[in-house]
Amino acid sequence: MKKAFVKSYGCQMNAYDAGRMADVLGAEGYAATDTVEEADVVILNTCHIREKAADKVYSELGRLRVLKAERREAGHDTRIVVAGCVAQAEGAEILARAPAVDVVVGPQSYHNLPALLAASHSKRVVDTAFPVEDKFDHLPARRTSAVSSFLTVQEGCDKFCAFCVVPYTRGAEVSRTVAAIRAEAEALVAGGTREITLIGQNVNAYHGLGRDGTPATLPALMRDLAGIPGLLRLRYTTSHPNDMADDLIAAHADIPALMPYLHLPVQSGSDRVLKAMNRKHDADAYRHLIARVRQARPDIALSSDFIVGFPGESDADFAETLGLVTEIGFSSAYTFKYSPRPGTPAAEREDAVPEAVKSERLAALQSLLDDQRHAYNAGFVGTTVEVLVEKAGRIAGQVVGKTPHLLTVQLDGPAAIIGTVVPVRISRTGTNTLFGEMSEAAAAA
Ligand code: 5AD
Ligand code: SF4
Repeated sequence: MKKAFVKSYGCQMNAYDAGRMADVLGAEGYAATDTVEEADVVILNTCHIREKAADKVYSELGRLRVLKAERREAGHDTRIVVAGCVAQAEGAEILARAPAVDVVVGPQSYHNLPALLAASHSKRVVDTAFPVEDKFDHLPARRTSAVSSFLTVQEGCDKFCAFCVVPYTRGAEVSRTVAAIRAEAEALVAGGTREITLIGQNVNAYHGLGRDGTPATLPALMRDLAGIPGLLRLRYTTSHPNDMADDLIAAHADIPALMPYLHLPVQSGSDRVLKAMNRKHDADAYRHLIARVRQARPDIALSSDFIVGFPGESDADFAETLGLVTEIGFSSAYTFKYSPRPGTPAAEREDAVPEAVKSERLAALQSLLDDQRHAYNAGFVGTTVEVLVEKAGRIAGQVVGKTPHLLTVQLDGPAAIIGTVVPVRISRTGTNTLFGEMSEAAAAA
């Protein structure tokens, strides 16, 4: 049997796409492998969001070139595919820079993989079209269902933040229909999924065709999905503050399956920087939004993305970011040093922040956010939380799952409880994990 190795970088949307590429090749008779040396097809599903992410691709391709030559010596063919956002952004340039590559395929064209692989035996091929047909209509059914699965409901972005490549690599916003999403969700649940995270670059701008022929909002979609028997939990990510509509905020109070967690990137606490970033909201608008979300769901866990060292960011601007973080309090967050991306407006600016300053600011912000995360986690010690058990732990007899607030919990328990929600008393916290014990009644059941 032929084997396919898929490595994914970057965001959750890429992780979803990597899974679907494995499904496409699975339908063609390829088995998935984690061992690159034995793969007949190697797919790098790349990320272009920051320079470091994009650079990784070329160093990986250097190693794959050697591997491909070694396999050829041994009489085996290896097809090397570059997929994802670097493929979309750099297209044919990749063929020029990396001689081992056979196929370059963008995020909207990977349903064509079998045809592209076949064609690549006579010439190297590039497919980075934004086709008019919907790739989702051409993808085979999902072959694997984890307890917690991602489901893409929306792709692309119309916001054009000054630092971001997404509107160029993923294109304009497109939403899938409620019916298509429901069908995929039902198939996942039939296969054992108990939690679905709806994903999209701008998921709260979702406006797919509803069952009544008019556009549906994200809360309307979630209400529909919440009706699937066996589906216990719903989440969504990533959102833009300007699309945090009233009915979505209300959904956090009214849809019991919707978990109390919100990832809402703010990027900066300085109005001057937010304006230069073309974020179209200021720090106060963010504060008000958070206050309203907390009114709807007082225990909600908040997460965000931050960029430090955007061109022109002063010490005073950065102090405002620290101030906003102190004021709001996050349970987790992602922090990045600004990295100029070719083709974006911010990359043209000449007032770059020196690397050493960026590093200092990143460290200060991370330290504040780490303190908040540790304090947040410590608050659960001694309490009992509902854990959706996802998989076996690294040590025999242990299992791992997630709390409603998206914290990872490790506990002793049999494999039989995977896929169920169990009450767990938290005993202590580690760096990234909480530890607990199943309550006695649950353990006996
Ligand atoms: N430099 C640094 N961080 C970036 N992000 C997006 N583009 C850049 C860039 N050019 C971050 C933002 C976004 C997250 C997905 O990645 O914080 O929310
Ligand atoms: Fe990029 Fe801004 Fe769109 Fe997010 S909202 S994907 S940061 S352009």
